[in-house]
Order: sequence, then structure tokens, then C-alpha cells
Amino acid sequence: MADKVRVAVLISGRGSNMVALEEWNRRGERSYEIVLIGSNDPEARGLMAAKIFNIPIWAESHKGMERETFDRLLDAQLKAHEVEVIALAGYMRLLSPWFIGEWRGRILNIHPSLLPDYKGLDTHRRAILAGELFAGCSVHMVTEELDGGPVIAQAKVRIRERETPEMLAERVLKEEHKLYPEALDIFCRTLRDQLQPTISSSEKK
Ligand code: GAR
Repeated sequence: MADKVRVAVLISGRGSNMVALEEWNRRGERSYEIVLIGSNDPEARGLMAAKIFNIPIWAESHKGMERETFDRLLDAQLKAHEVEVIALAGYMRLLSPWFIGEWRGRILNIHPSLLPDYKGLDTHRRAILAGELFAGCSVHMVTEELDGGPVIAQAKVRIRERETPEMLAERVLKEEHKLYPEALDIFCRTLRDQLQPTISSSEKK
């Protein structure tokens, strides 16, 4: 596909969703290409995988920096790489309102719960303790409200009897790895179609 949407994936840890996004992209004709992997932790485990993929990496510690100061550094990198869409994949740092405003409508996140339920951390333990029948994951737009932006895709799993949070997390993670690439692909395809200028019949001649 011509004109793939240029995506940056931001990670803070293991990076398994980032790997899933890139592997799925390599298996077929997709609407996005990952042009930058960013991290707020130069020691993040996922960066090893990023090196193997040969995708440019920007990793800088946020420690000791004001939130917006760090986000402005990140923003400069994203713009230098002509990024159009940002996919948060286990990026465990809150983004500043300034950054969210700058990238409004262009930031996606994957969250391990059926939003709007269980925003924040420790989602699987809380779902089990509450006696929920289902757990799952959501891909949503990022807004100023933590885990509160519009949901664009969800996958559901039934919670099993005597299932531990760790067991549930493992099963949901497998769903995340399927859901996120497809949701990102559809999102980028839609964005690209919206940005394509409409060619009228007289112009085509
Ligand atoms: C994933 O389960 C993701 O849904 C979650 O962190 C994990 C990252 O794993 N994200 C959040 O909790 C964000 N609120 P990964 O680094 O292997 O992709």
C-alpha cells in the first residue's frame, strides 16, 4: 500500500505488544509502518526486540524532569521522524495535557480491561475480586482523562474458576496481541482515507 501511516510505538517495559504490532505488519499488506520506537526507560526490556527489528529507537529517562519538559523532547523526536500516529504499548508514564493537545486524535493505547471498567493498574486482580464473569482488553483513544478516551476495539475472555490474576493476564495478553494490530490497521486505514484528497472525474482525465 502506498502512503503507509507513520507510527511511533511507545513502551516502558517488556514490549510484547510492540513486537506483535511489528510482526503482524511484516506478515501482510498493512496501512501502517512503525518508524520509531520510543521509551522513557533506556533499560526497557522491549528495546532489545526493537534493535532486532532494526527500527530507530529513542530512549531517554524521564527521571528528574518535569512531565512537559520530557514530553517536549519526545515530541521533537516524533516530529523529526514525521510520525503521524502514536501507539502506546505498555507506556506507563502519564502524558502531559500539552502533549495530548498537540497529538489530539492521533494517540491510541491498549489497556488490560473492558473499559470503562477497571481503569488504572492491577486490573485483573480487581476484576477477579469483584466476581466478574468476563475480563479483556480495550484499544482506546488517549485523552486527558486516564484510560477514559473513546474505545475503538475490545476483546473479551471469560474468567475461569480459581483463575489467578497472573493466569488471566497471560490469556488476555494473547488477545491484546491480536486486537491491537488489527485495531491500529483499521484506524490508520481510516485516517489515510480521510486525508486522501478526493479526485473529481474532470481532474482524472
Ligand atoms: C499490557 O498488558 C498492556 O495492556 C498494559 O501493560 C502491558 C504491557 O505489556 N498497559 C497498561 O496497563 C496501560 N494502562 P507489554 O509491554 O508486553 O506490551
